[in-house]
Amino acid sequence: MAVRCAEPAPPRPPRRRLVVAAGAGVALAALGACAQPARPGPRLEDFPPVPEAPAGTRVVASEAARAAVARMGRGINFGNMLDAPREGDWGLRVEERFIDLVGEGGFTRSVRLPVRWSNHASPDAAAVIDPAFFARVERIVDRLLARGCTVVLNMHHYRQLDGDTPDPSEFLVEPAVVQVRLLSIWRQIAERFAGRGERLLFEIYNEPHGVLEPHWNTLFSRALATVRRSNPTRAVIVGPVHWNAPSHLDRLVLPPDRDLVVTVHHYEPFDFTHQGAEWIQPPRPTGQDCCDDAQRRAIESPLLLSAQDRERRGFPVFVGEFGAYSRAPLNARLRYLRLKREAMERLGLPWFYWELAAGFGVFDPEAGRFREPLHQALYGG
Ligand code: GLC
Repeated sequence: MAVRCAEPAPPRPPRRRLVVAAGAGVALAALGACAQPARPGPRLEDFPPVPEAPAGTRVVASEAARAAVARMGRGINFGNMLDAPREGDWGLRVEERFIDLVGEGGFTRSVRLPVRWSNHASPDAAAVIDPAFFARVERIVDRLLARGCTVVLNMHHYRQLDGDTPDPSEFLVEPAVVQVRLLSIWRQIAERFAGRGERLLFEIYNEPHGVLEPHWNTLFSRALATVRRSNPTRAVIVGPVHWNAPSHLDRLVLPPDRDLVVTVHHYEPFDFTHQGAEWIQPPRPTGQDCCDDAQRRAIESPLLLSAQDRERRGFPVFVGEFGAYSRAPLNARLRYLRLKREAMERLGLPWFYWELAAGFGVFDPEAGRFREPLHQALYGG
């Protein structure tokens, strides 16, 4: 069980996108954080990567991986819920009524479920997942699967892995165990969900960036090999470094495995989509319109790159996150959403809107109904 250093956060701490220059490390002492002493446990070498394919072999995606992505269609992220340091810290929990929305009245049957496992697992290399938290996530996944839903289960915001500053109420671990904990956690998740059907997909890590970048391809390969021990053919999702930016797809090396799926995130034009966002430094001014020619290009060219990557590699690609924050002017936001959605769909890229019921939310949790203009722009005809 994790020993926690900090008191639980006050309700709804400010959220930040923490930009750390590549190569910059986090000095635990400087943060005044209490690192947990490492106990002997598994080491990185205990999780070997996927063996390389013989030279000259071309591996392309299986039919099952392609079908899994084709089924995604127009999805939704259950964001700011289980990806907060503790569920509820950011003012939202996964509620039964959210699950009940899935598949109703033209709404999606595809949910991406971001989960901050790292803050619910022991601080040592074994990273034993808190049983109550594990059971909670399992129940949510099973409820969604029972509704015939495609579920993307991921690992989200393991801040220390990217070298980011931890959030309030998040504990730090010894640097030596940071990466191996991701592998130990995936071993447990994979074993626990091994019996579920093919509508459940695993996404190894959200938006790798910062100090993780030079290690990402190898760490992903180790994680994939770990998952494959218990899930030989489940679709596993991977995205490029730099927050899953399409511009960095050429740095992504896929291990030889046919059941892989590639994801990208696309918040361009960033100054528009993140205007007024409290967690972005420097803050982007509000009142910005969309979409002039330059903004259209910023929307379309990363999508073209993504579609080209799909053709070049022979692996399906989808957009795991995109959206515009609520402080953008509503009409501009609607134009942006329609334009983006149409561009993704023209290129055959399934997508997941960020997110259901918080600051980007398509659903108003207080009123208990969809924000109809947004709902229409995204999921309407
Ligand atoms: C990020 C994250 C998500 C965040 C969103 C908006 O890429 O994955 O947690 O809230 O984008 O900034």
